[in-house]
Amino acid sequence: MKILKIHGDTGSSVIRVGETLERLDKYIPPENVVIITDINVKNLYGHKFPPHPVITVETGEKIKTLHTVEYICEELVALGADRSTFIVGIGGGIVCDITGFVASIYLRGVRFGFVSSTLLSQVDASVGGKNGVNFKGYKNMIGVFSQPEFVICDLNLLKTLPKKEILCGLAEIVKHAVIGDADLFTYLEEQYKKALDMDMGVVEKLVYESIVIKSGIVNRDELEKGERRKLNFGHTFGHAIEKTTGVPHGEAVSAGMVIASALSVKRGFLPAKDEERIKNLLQNLRLPTHLKADRKMVLDALKKDKKRQGDRIYFVWLNGIGNAFVDRIPMGELEAVIDKHMEPV
Ligand SMILES: NC(=O)c1ccc[n+]([C@@H]2O[C@H](COP(=O)([O-])OP(=O)(O)OC[C@H]3O[C@@H](n4cnc5c(N)ncnc54)[C@H](O)[C@@H]3O)[C@@H](O)[C@H]2O)c1
Ligand SMILES: [Zn+2]
Repeated sequence: MKILKIHGDTGSSVIRVGETLERLDKYIPPENVVIITDINVKNLYGHKFPPHPVITVETGEKIKTLHTVEYICEELVALGADRSTFIVGIGGGIVCDITGFVASIYLRGVRFGFVSSTLLSQVDASVGGKNGVNFKGYKNMIGVFSQPEFVICDLNLLKTLPKKEILCGLAEIVKHAVIGDADLFTYLEEQYKKALDMDMGVVEKLVYESIVIKSGIVNRDELEKGERRKLNFGHTFGHAIEKTTGVPHGEAVSAGMVIASALSVKRGFLPAKDEERIKNLLQNLRLPTHLKADRKMVLDALKKDKKRQGDRIYFVWLNGIGNAFVDRIPMGELEAVIDKHMEPV
């Protein structure tokens, strides 16, 4: 097991990579614990949960709403949960995001931790203290910063993960390497086949190194005033593509990273050979580098981006692989690359 720590203004978090669900009871009080999970994770792993009450939610972005928050709060009240209750979310990013939010607002906040069960949530969603839900079609519009006391990244749980969920996690791992660790990028280039096959030695290194990058950034800029914005690399176009085409998040971000790399080359920041390396790695990982999308819809989605300020939007640029920086970009410049990088539908 390897341990990483986050010390923020909104709490401290101990992230345990390689710890197991079976040993969860070591990190929670003996009683007054409530578990929140989703129906898939409960069916697969419910028999391994410690003996505490379980609140089960459905799956998918559609349930990441205030309505589900209300349902969970009702269940907590019915269970007699009080200020000393400890809440554990066991699941992927959706369970962790909702659990962290509910635990932060129930009775003005109770203690909480996560057992993270998808590759995406281990390398990204469960780390960093952003918790929240979607609102009126806007992703993660309502939420809080609040660190879980612990995050257990049980690699064994990943064995039952569907392939498309693995790809989503791999896209975020590539993102972390591109913005912060050239060695990790080279490692991915060399080991992509084993990563796709979920070779546990390779996956453990990828999860750990990814969290090293993300936790390092969060430790320096917990509340996203500056450097944390780097974690949005590929996500400006990624979110717009995801919203307009409905493709999975990881696929949209993959295509978004290619567009962001191309823009960095166009501005003269990134050598063209690095753009090629990024494209090749994504292709090797079976992630798309090019997607069909409706130009006007993508533009509309870009205009609705939360990070837009007037005619400009914060954008993550690359100076090289492993080296990113944030600066604003005029909307017109984004518009200009759409035609080149997206096939019309
Ligand atoms: N808070 C953050 O900083 C942050 C960062 C990135 C993403 N997110 C959020 O994370 C969410 C996506 O997370 P996700 O990709 O984990 O999705 P998810 O939670 O929907 O999980 C994906 C699917 O896998 C199933 N599943 C979970 N664990 C499994 C296992 N071990 N074996 C088999 N199936 C399993 C789930 O039931 C679900 O159907 C999004 O809502 C996104 O906004 C948050
Ligand atoms: Zn993402």
